[in-house]
Amino acid sequence: MQDKKTQVKQMFDAIAYRYDFLNHVLSAGVDVYWRKKALKLTKLNKDAVLLDVACGTGDFAIEAKKFGVENIFGADFSLNMLRLFNKKSDWIVGRDFQMVAEKLPLKVATVTNITVAFGVRNFYNIPEAFSSFHFALKEKGKVTVLEFSMPTSPLIKIFYQMYFKFILPVIGRIISKDKRAYTYLPDSVEEFDKSIDLVKLFYNAGFKTVKRYNLTFGLVQVVIAEK
Ligand SMILES: C[S@@+](CC[C@H](N)C(=O)[O-])C[C@H]1O[C@@H](n2cnc3c(N)ncnc32)[C@H](O)[C@@H]1O
Repeated sequence: MQDKKTQVKQMFDAIAYRYDFLNHVLSAGVDVYWRKKALKLTKLNKDAVLLDVACGTGDFAIEAKKFGVENIFGADFSLNMLRLFNKKSDWIVGRDFQMVAEKLPLKVATVTNITVAFGVRNFYNIPEAFSSFHFALKEKGKVTVLEFSMPTSPLIKIFYQMYFKFILPVIGRIISKDKRAYTYLPDSVEEFDKSIDLVKLFYNAGFKTVKRYNLTFGLVQVVIAEK
C-alpha cells in the first residue's frame, strides 16, 4: 500500500489532461463562481504577492489575475498539472514550481497571500502544511482555502450523496479512465468533513483570526485565516 502522498500525486498526474473538462462538467460550471466568491471574500489587494498552492491547472490563480494581482506563483507536486497551467497562461511561464505544500521551500515572510482551492483535502499532513504557510506569510498575510464540505440540510444531503456516490463516479470513470479518481472524491469529502476542523487547525498553526463561510447550501466552505 502506497502512502497518501504518492497515491494522490500519481492520481493527479494520471487525470491531469481531463481534469479541467471533468471539473466544469461535474460541477455544472459552479466551480467558477466558487473560486471568484472565495477571492472576493478575501478582499484581494492588487499589490498582493500570491502563492496558489495545489494550483493544479491554475484556475484559482487565473481568477486572481482578474482581480488585478500581478505577482502570482503556482505550486503543485504534479508536474502534469503544472504543465497544463503553463499552457493555459503565458504570464505564468517559469513562475510555477513543483512543490509540496507541507514543505514550501520559501524564506520566512515572503508572500502576502496563499490560496488553495480543492487541495487541502488531498494534503498528506494538513497541520504541517498550515505551519509551512504561516512561516511563508508576511504579518497580516492571509490563507484562503476553498474546499468541499457536506451540506447541512438533510434533503440536500440526500441528493448530494446520491449524486456523489452513484452518478459522479460513473461519469468520472468513463471520462478520466481512472478508476480511483472519482470514487476517491466522495469518500474523501465525507471523511474530511467528519474528521477535519480547518478553523481549529489554522488556530493551532498560529493564525490570529480565522473566518469560515458556507457557499451553495454548504456544498463548499471558504476558510480565511490571517497571520
Ligand atoms: C483537485 S486539484 C485542484 C486544482 C486547482 N486548485 C483547482 O482549483 O482546480 C488538487 C491539486 O492538489 C495537488 N496536491 C495535492 N496534494 C498536494 C501536496 N501535498 N502538495 C502540493 N500539491 C498537492 C494535486 O496535484 C492537484 O493538482
